[in-house]
Amino acid sequence: MSQAATRMTQPDWHPDTARAAIAAAAAAAAAKPAAMRAAVAHLETSKIQQVFEAGFGVDNLLPLWVGESDVNTPDFICRAAYESLRAGEARYTHKRGIPELRHAIKTYTDGLYGLDLDVERISVTQSGMHGIMMCMQAFVEAGDNVVTISPVWPNIVAAAEIMGGEVRQVPMHLEDGLFRLDLDRLFDACDENTKVLFFCSPGNPTAWVMPDDQRLAIRDFCRQRGIWVIADEVYHRLVYDRPVAPSILPDIEPEDRVINLHSFSKTWAMTGWRLGWLVHPPEMGETFGKLLEFSNSGCQAFLQRAATTAITEGEPFVQQMVEYCRVGRDIVSQHLNSMPRVRLAQPTAAFYAFFAVDGMTDSLGFALDVLHKTGVGMAPGAAFGAGGEGFLRICFAKSPEMLAEAMDRLRPVLS
Ligand SMILES: Cc1ncc(COP(=O)(O)O)c(C=O)c1O
Repeated sequence: MSQAATRMTQPDWHPDTARAAIAAAAAAAAAKPAAMRAAVAHLETSKIQQVFEAGFGVDNLLPLWVGESDVNTPDFICRAAYESLRAGEARYTHKRGIPELRHAIKTYTDGLYGLDLDVERISVTQSGMHGIMMCMQAFVEAGDNVVTISPVWPNIVAAAEIMGGEVRQVPMHLEDGLFRLDLDRLFDACDENTKVLFFCSPGNPTAWVMPDDQRLAIRDFCRQRGIWVIADEVYHRLVYDRPVAPSILPDIEPEDRVINLHSFSKTWAMTGWRLGWLVHPPEMGETFGKLLEFSNSGCQAFLQRAATTAITEGEPFVQQMVEYCRVGRDIVSQHLNSMPRVRLAQPTAAFYAFFAVDGMTDSLGFALDVLHKTGVGMAPGAAFGAGGEGFLRICFAKSPEMLAEAMDRLRPVLS
């Protein structure tokens, strides 16, 4: 029955009565406590997700928007999980990670950077994202700020904001075909309420690798001010001009306020497994242990067995993965560089091409339009904060066939 019909069958219905009822309901709602914290109520779905959702039902879709490869997790890793489950490892376990995995991470890290890491400094997390969230839980509250370099992966901003923190983004700029960071601007953005300085190198979305002198300057500045550094190195192995990206680990003392953030997602093609790890000062072990206890109560033992196998036996696979991405990078950059409206900083790491499009001022609208016209799914630069508008991001960890097809479809709209 329509609203109008309902009114007619209610003889005592009158606009004033209805208005009074609405006002009474509003007053009753206002008298109740807020349904949730303002920081959570104000969260917005990321613009990557908005394009992703617009892609449901698009024919012949070429999904290049999110940061994952189309390579499946290799069999030898899957088998380790299966065998662990068969052996009954499906119960609660060590909250900071099974000893075998923490030792394997130590051995792996020592081997990469020539260190002798204390295992006490390693905690296994339920993904890189979980690690980021636990850091924000540990360090940030209302009134604090987090300073970060932009363009930045939107989840970092959201994690800080959930904790009530203000996020200050310092944009990089493209100069002579390279992304550049002005360190003075970064340090000027910090004040007495700055709790965290976050950076990601190699970067998402820019693929930018922080120069050594800037990394050391950040270490010194934050050391002096007592600011926590979160150094996100989840793309450390996806590098095309050297075996491994420079890390902050060899530059720091164990007690420095530095968190080194890692994930199994990208290097070992394990995005859906949701495992990562943190390297932190030894005294933070207890804190992260409690945050793990009260969030996921420790990561699944059978997944950790697989991660142990990945990190100890996965070197040949990592090399294949790097080569796969290098081929993807070359296809994408060759095509993009020949398109008149495009400016691309050649990615030397990670698996993203983040390129400027001349004349594009609304990257979200553009990405949606291109999605519907061509079926190519790209992430809009505006999703990555202050420095991102005017850009689009493509993940090139995909098959050469898919990338070549995507480039053919994009050429008319980007030329
Ligand atoms: C910069 C950066 N940090 C952390 C992560 C977290 O990865 P995951 O939660 O899959 O381990 C991602 C994933 O895209 C990322 O791009």
